[in-house]
Amino acid sequence: MTSPPSHLWLNALLQALQFVQSTWLGALYALGITDDSHGAPAWPWAQRIAGENLVIDVALARQFAWMLAAIAFAIVCLLLALCWRRAWRWLTAAAIGALVLSPWPSPTLWLTAAVPTSFHSSPTGFTVDSIARGSRIYSAQCAACHGADGRGEGPLAATLRRWPPTMASALLSRRADGELFWHVLYGMRDDQGVTMPGFVGRLSDREVWAALDYMRVLSASAGMAAGGSWPVPIALPSVAVKCAGRPDRPLDAWRGHQRVRVVAVDAAHPPPFEDPRFLTLLIRRDDGQATGPATASVRKVATVAAPGNVTPLFGTRADCVADARDAWPVFAQIAGASAAGLAGTEWLADRDGWLRALAPAGRRGWADGGLMCTTSTSLQDGDTASARDPLTATLREMDNDPVRFVKGGFVH
Ligand code: HEC
Repeated sequence: MTSPPSHLWLNALLQALQFVQSTWLGALYALGITDDSHGAPAWPWAQRIAGENLVIDVALARQFAWMLAAIAFAIVCLLLALCWRRAWRWLTAAAIGALVLSPWPSPTLWLTAAVPTSFHSSPTGFTVDSIARGSRIYSAQCAACHGADGRGEGPLAATLRRWPPTMASALLSRRADGELFWHVLYGMRDDQGVTMPGFVGRLSDREVWAALDYMRVLSASAGMAAGGSWPVPIALPSVAVKCAGRPDRPLDAWRGHQRVRVVAVDAAHPPPFEDPRFLTLLIRRDDGQATGPATASVRKVATVAAPGNVTPLFGTRADCVADARDAWPVFAQIAGASAAGLAGTEWLADRDGWLRALAPAGRRGWADGGLMCTTSTSLQDGDTASARDPLTATLREMDNDPVRFVKGGFVH
């Protein structure tokens, strides 16, 4: 889910804390005080600020902010006292007063255990290829416990002391990426011993990141199976985009600028018309996967976009295609649909690159309620949905309700 409180100040606070901690880490590394670990500077302490606690406990976050403000005020007063001798008594008294009056929330609430890779971020770029690689690793190494569907009910699960958690939840998005990575490499334990085995030596760093990429997709499909929606907005997987007559570009090139509509097409579902409100990206079933007559019909799709077939009244057909053979199965899984029944499905990603809305194949287009992940603040504008067509309504809803996404307690 998008983060519960919508307080802008809280996001700003979390962003500032993240910035300060990672800049500090970069400085320590530059000075040679800390080493690197798995390809990035290692966090040298056993604790870090628990953004995940601040984000769910607004009262705690407020106390924490007051504490920081009081400390900053006291420092300023003391510095002034040094320069301005005549007022030093007053300034020192003000500094002490601020420190005494400030709330001092217990550090056990705002600190949490950290690992050397706590501040690492995934190097994979969440590409379709990495997700597909992760899917093979997951089936071979993880599904026995976590279950093929990611709901924690694999064949070995019942033999474990602790059941693996279900991925049909916000678990993966709550934890810091670097900590998930560490847990998969070095395992997890509780007071009585190991709960999940580590994979160091068996999987490379890259393979662990890929498995985590796949688990995010699994989280979306497990959420679809369990409740008909994604537990959290999922990032739009990146893929090389081929547009007729233009050089290939990665899909992330549109991130921050343009919304993206992904459409699964086949012979019976030709590419839609271009729409200036978003980039339309077509995904097609790889020829090698389709069999018999379907292969011929998939090829035919490409010709639908030929200028001769276009009715000028409606503009041109979309012609940007995802250039990865795994795009079809990856997007099918995100939609919680079978690969065979995917054609006709549409997905919408917002300008920040989050997949937000889904129009399943059977529905043939957009209806109200396409948005998969909303916060309670959505749809406050005065317009009535009936005054707009369903696609416009969904776009409006998406724009009005941006993902205030918090990752390991920090804005992602
Ligand atoms: C022997 C069974 C088993 C296998 C194999 C296994 N896991 Fe786990 N996994 C668990 C259990 C049990 C937990 C819950 C541990 C806990 O909360 O202490 C868990 C937890 C996790 C978590 C949540 C971590 C967190 O920070 O809460 C992730 C992510 C994860 N596993 C990924 C993987 C991946 C990726 C693989 C394969 C490379 C894998 N697991 C293989 C049993 C397993």
